[in-house]
Amino acid sequence: MFVERNVSLQPLNSFGIAARAAHMVRVRSEDEVRAVLADAGLTAAGLFVLGGGSNIVLTGDLRALVLKVEVPGRRVVDQTARHTIVEAGAGESWHDFVGWTLDQGLPGLENLALIPGTVGASPVQNIGAYGVELQDRFHELDAIDLATGELFTLNAAQCGFGYRDSVFKHAPAQPGDFGLAGRALILRVRLALPRAWRPVLGYLDLERRMQETGISAPDARQIHDWIVAIRRAKLPDPAVIGNAGSFFKNPTVTPEQCQDIIGRDPKLVHYPMPDGSVKLAAGWLIDACGWKGKRMGNAAVYDKQALVLVNQGGSQHPATGGEVMTLARAIQTSVYERFGIRLEPEPVVV
Ligand code: EPU
Repeated sequence: MFVERNVSLQPLNSFGIAARAAHMVRVRSEDEVRAVLADAGLTAAGLFVLGGGSNIVLTGDLRALVLKVEVPGRRVVDQTARHTIVEAGAGESWHDFVGWTLDQGLPGLENLALIPGTVGASPVQNIGAYGVELQDRFHELDAIDLATGELFTLNAAQCGFGYRDSVFKHAPAQPGDFGLAGRALILRVRLALPRAWRPVLGYLDLERRMQETGISAPDARQIHDWIVAIRRAKLPDPAVIGNAGSFFKNPTVTPEQCQDIIGRDPKLVHYPMPDGSVKLAAGWLIDACGWKGKRMGNAAVYDKQALVLVNQGGSQHPATGGEVMTLARAIQTSVYERFGIRLEPEPVVV
């Protein structure tokens, strides 16, 4: 086991925030995780599991031992009557894995192309885009219990998936409670890709592409390429401008609340949900409050998508986690004052 000391986390988080870890170990297998757990001195200050670092805001240095998950591997593991089961190690790049499934002739993940981060992080926030969420394709995952070193497997129901939410985002309040935050390290994820594939094309951005190109029955590769182009046009590339994707969740309100806001702001972007509630576009709410392009210190609101906060200081003068959170709180206050809606941050604040 190789323990790195006083490690810069700046290249390991997509915001590019400058923070340091006292110790870090890269783990490629469950045996390597167990070797770390067996070293009481190393784990005395606690553990912090790091994947691709694309959904975190670091607000300070980490005293806890950082476990950087680098478990490799991609394979087809099974075929059932309706699905092909594919597996990837938690350390694999999500986007590369999506491309690999298409190379194998296995469609189903194309709408989730170009989402930054690793396979292991994908169930944590139940990644989603353009009408598909991870939970729609999820089969099961293997994880290791950081308290006991035991390996366990969870199916979709046990992961407690919700909108950008899962059991891995909740800390147990009491022993035995639902909640595995800080408790589980995801090693491998298995997905069930439908053998009878049907494209998911309901999003306006995709409909627009179909009209522009005249392609009415795109294949999975075509959809993948459109999604990549749509995301590149709208979202900042973390390799160029640090960010963690959407910074807030899209809030849901009652139809009455929605009508009340429309009475004052007829252009409100809203989507009726199957359960009768209404989802609002947080990006629109923030934009309507005039935040697009606004800057506080080196943190700013992206000028093409108000839902994304960015690091405008580059790698030389990066935004601090404090600046990002000060900006986030100012946005929350103004959206609350104008619309009466509390926006909830989407990334994990560390
Ligand atoms: N809008 C504005 N101004 C803005 C931004 C958005 O008016 O500055 C309006 C747009 O015109 C559009 C609506 O808001 O009508 C929705 O915007 P968009 O289509 O960009 O999607 P989103 O709701 O902002 C969500 C996900 C994204 C995902 C896209 C596509 C969340 C928190 N975000 O964004 O996921 O890629 O839909 O499915 O649910 C992420 O989670 O990090 C992420 C990028």
